Amino acid sequence: MGIYLSPSMLSIDFTKVGEQLAQVEQAGVKYLHLDVMDGVFVPNISFGMPVIKGIRKASNMIFDTHLMIVDPERYIDDVRAAGADIINFHVEATKDVAGCIAKIKASGAKVGITVKPNTTIETIQPYLADLDMVLVMTVEPGFGGQKFMADQVHKISTLAKWKKELQLSYDIEVDGGITLDNIREVLDAGANLIVAGSAVFGKEDISGAAKAFHNILKEYDEA
Ligand code: DX5
Ligand code: ZN
Repeated sequence: MGIYLSPSMLSIDFTKVGEQLAQVEQAGVKYLHLDVMDGVFVPNISFGMPVIKGIRKASNMIFDTHLMIVDPERYIDDVRAAGADIINFHVEATKDVAGCIAKIKASGAKVGITVKPNTTIETIQPYLADLDMVLVMTVEPGFGGQKFMADQVHKISTLAKWKKELQLSYDIEVDGGITLDNIREVLDAGANLIVAGSAVFGKEDISGAAKAFHNILKEYDEA
């Protein structure tokens, strides 16, 4: 399964995208988290297909897309065509969760469901066997640099428990406010994909920040 860092491009310096992507890739980062926002599902707008397509040419990292858009089924094929390897959508954003899962699978991408802080983890329980990933938000989606909500960690533990009981293999990703100071809390609970925006691209020494995360992840990977 493996434990990986997925730095969020939301915090990148957009005047230095190629350079900063190369910095994390050279530091051994395998995943890149891409936050797509529509200004409706969340009160912010980020970037979409042209940006994903553009950076696809410059990076071999696994593109882990996090769609914060209403009715995500409208854009699944376009996001995949732009270069997404994993497509996460919010369970709160669609009336047709099963249809979204089927559409993402048919596109050839890996499929993940995301839950907002006020959504119970039980909401997605019926879909677990069909998923490659579950993404637990530890901030309200929409912005980088917010404070980690420790009261969401129980969802990670529950997902880890279900995974074991049901003998499933989905990844458990966590997103929002993760730093070197709280990462152990989510790893202890069972998360294996760690999103970090401001704690990686927001730092002066991006490569050093990625390496510091890797040092901690390594301890858990070897355990
Ligand atoms: C927030 C996004 C996050 C964000 C994380 O809606 O989903 O991926 O970029 O940023 P930090 O790590 O700064 O909280
Ligand atoms: Zn995200």
